[in-house]
Formats: sequence, C-alpha cells, structure tokens
Amino acid sequence: MIEFPAEPYRIKTIEPIRLNSRDEREKIIREAKYNVFKIRAEQIYIDFLTDSGTSAMSDNQWAGLLMGDESYAGCRNYYHFEETLRDITGYRHIIPVHQGRAGEYLLYSSILKPGDKVPSNTHFDTTRANIEFLGAEAHDLLIDEGRKPDCIHPFKGNINLEKLETFLKENAGKVPVATMTVTNNTGGGQPASLENIRRASEILHSHGVPFIIDACRYAENSYFIKMRESGNENRSVKEIAQEMFSYADGCIMSAKKDGLSNIGGFIGLNNDDWHRKIVNRMILIEGFRTYGGLAGRDLEAIARGIVEALDEEYLAHRTGQVKSFGELLQSVGVPIIQPTGGHAVFVDVLSFLQDTPRENLPAWGLTVALYREGGIRAVEIGTVMFGKRDKHGNHIFPPIEYVRLAVPRRVYTESHLKYVADVFKRIAANKKAIKGLRLTYEPQFLRHFTAEFEEL
Ligand code: F0G
Repeated sequence: MIEFPAEPYRIKTIEPIRLNSRDEREKIIREAKYNVFKIRAEQIYIDFLTDSGTSAMSDNQWAGLLMGDESYAGCRNYYHFEETLRDITGYRHIIPVHQGRAGEYLLYSSILKPGDKVPSNTHFDTTRANIEFLGAEAHDLLIDEGRKPDCIHPFKGNINLEKLETFLKENAGKVPVATMTVTNNTGGGQPASLENIRRASEILHSHGVPFIIDACRYAENSYFIKMRESGNENRSVKEIAQEMFSYADGCIMSAKKDGLSNIGGFIGLNNDDWHRKIVNRMILIEGFRTYGGLAGRDLEAIARGIVEALDEEYLAHRTGQVKSFGELLQSVGVPIIQPTGGHAVFVDVLSFLQDTPRENLPAWGLTVALYREGGIRAVEIGTVMFGKRDKHGNHIFPPIEYVRLAVPRRVYTESHLKYVADVFKRIAANKKAIKGLRLTYEPQFLRHFTAEFEEL
C-alpha cells in the first residue's frame, strides 16, 4: 500500500455504527425496493453514498456554532463568511445559499432561457437537471482521456479546448454562460489543470461568454495542481485557488464538500446585474441575502471549515487516504478509474461485471450487492442516474457505468476501508450472483433518488 501521512487530528467524539445481520439486511433492501437511497442511515454500516454534508466538523467549527448571531439581517457571521470567501475567490459579491443546487437554480434561472446551451467539462446531475428544467441544454466537452477509466492522465477533468472553441462558433448567441466542475465529480473526482482553466477562460472571454466555476471540491483540485502541474510545487494551495478563481467571472459552491460543513453553499460573482437579479429572486425561496437559507451558526461553521480545508497536511492525508483505498480495492481484483480522484473511488462496473448485460443495470446491481454483503452504501453513476429512454422505452445508455464510493471527510479510518475491501473480495469471488434488476418505477428527472426495482 502507498505511504501517506496519518490523520493530522485525533478523535474527540464518536458516533456508534452497527452492522445488521444478513437476514435483516436482506429484508431491508427488499423493503427499500432495491434502492439504497430509501434505506435508513441507521441501517447502514459504512456509508459511502456521498462526501457531501457528511464531514466531521472540528472542535473549532463546533465552537463557532455557539457564536451564531441569529439576527435576520446583517448577522456578524455573514460578514466573517463574506470576508473569508472574498479573500479566497476574489469575487465582489458573496451570496449564501442553503446548498449548491439552490445556487445553481438561482443563477441559471436568472440568466438562461429555453434553447440556450451551456458547455462544461462535465455537468453534475443536479446542475444538468437545473439547466434542463429551464428548457436549456447542458453539454459535456470533457477531454477524451477523461472518459477512459484505465487511462492514466494527471488532469482527466480538463475540458477539450478545441471542442469548446468549435462549440462556441457553432452556437454563437446561444451560450449565456459556461462552467467547469472542479474536481470533475462525475468523471471520477478528476482535477482540471490551471493551464486548462486559464485557456478555457481565454477562449470563453474571446467569445464574450461569462465563465463560472462549480467549485465544490476546489481545494482538492488545487492540491492536485500543486502536486502534478509543474511550476506550482512551491506555491500554497490557497494561492493556486486564488489564481484559479481569478480566471472566472464567478463560482457556485456547495460548502458541503470542501467547506467541511454539513449544509450550505454560496454564489460568488463580479457581475452586478446578475447579483441584483439573484438577490431579488432569492427572497422568494432562500431568504435575505445575508443568510440565504442558513442559520448564522451555519455561516460560521462554513467560514471556519473552508479555511481548514485548505490546510495542506489535511489535504495530503485526504488525497492519500482515497488513493490507498483505491489500491486496496485493486489488490482484491476490483477495476477502478485511474488515477483515483480527490473524494471517491469509482468502480468501473462494465469491466468488473462483464457477464451482467447492461440492460440489467449492473452498476445498480453492485450497489445492492454491497449492502447485502456488507451493509455498505454506495451510489450508482451509470444508466439509472444518467441514462434516458428512447421512444420505444428502451434504455439509452450513458458513456459511463460506475459505482462511486465517496469517502466522507475526516470520518472513516483505515480499518473501515480494509473491511470494505474484504466485502469486495467476497463479491468478486461470486460475481455471477449479480443478475441485475429491472425498474418498476421511475420519475422523469433525477430518477435514481426515488426509482424502484425488482431483482431478475
Ligand atoms: N456540483 C457538484 C460537482 C456536486 O458534486 C454537487 C453535489 C452539487 C453541485 C450540488 O451541491 O448537493 O449542495 O446541492 N454533489 C453531491 C454528491 C450530492 O453526492 O456528489 P448540493
């Protein structure tokens, strides 16, 4: 296993977890209609559903909660929040929101109209859904290397600059904004390079298109830049992040990831017009601009967490832990996206479960097997999440069929990860038992959250 620094913190509070018996798990997954989103968290032993909102807060953050100023307007925590985020991003306007997707809705509903097109390296599912909900189109222009699970490339989250240029020429007048997701969650938590972000910015601005960064995991992305992009090795992660933000006109960030907080997010902007529109619109759904759907104490926890997430000892441990988890899984015969990204290990299911036909939803089948075999919860990033139906009702398969094991920040230890590798070993020895599933219910948007299944 790779060497990586031990946790630069120790455990002060614990939260008990329990592994149910196999019979109990069998009953639970059946009653959940084979959808792990419908299982109570208490019935999960190791929860890799997401790294979002699941971080362990520090004593400093918990202390900050007691400093919450719950005044309706102008609470002191907002000013701390604004000052901290302005320092990191450089953006003039800092608008708090209760989580990332509220920011997406507020921004996109203020600037998009039906028929508009939004290019990105890759849109995450809520981002895509928010754009499509407004009648606009979300286009993914990731580099080809980013789509090949076993291709080793330091920046598999880069946007294809030639495709971007062509896209802007072909769609002149229809592109009110473009984005880049750092790290690229859907593509495996893979970083984009500073050079790529700078070039994308130049191309977009030469076509008059504003550029927004989806910054949920910007600290992990900046750490990869420091480790992998020459010329950055002696800079601080914060300096790298500041340069990255300087290339864009604004950002949307879910603070539930690199904000090391359990809720919250923000929109950062330089454009006064967009700011005014959003602030007026947000009163209808999020509230006044100095709290944005959050309590004063939440703003304080984020202001403190966002600084902790830039700590380089923490980032070295964090990225090292995820990398070593990936190597553990490979050592028991599980193919993963390489290199491992910042927040998760992605299992390449088409190569792991070659005997389960794609229409039987093999990646979803693996999430069921992980719960059944070990009380582990993971998320499918494949046909159920991103696929569509043709007019005959047949699946249109997306380019990817992954299971994501997202590692919550500062939560699990090496022995938890070894346990998970053991469960994978048992599943790998009995792959033929995974026959797959059939959908029995699916909504039109974001179907993975509520879909129901039966086993084949
Ligand atoms: N953008 C990206 C890249 C994300 O990964 C997420 C959330 C969001 C936007 C939306 O933020 O959840 O605060 O509303 N990703 C979570 C995940 C849900 O599990 O990857 P949110």
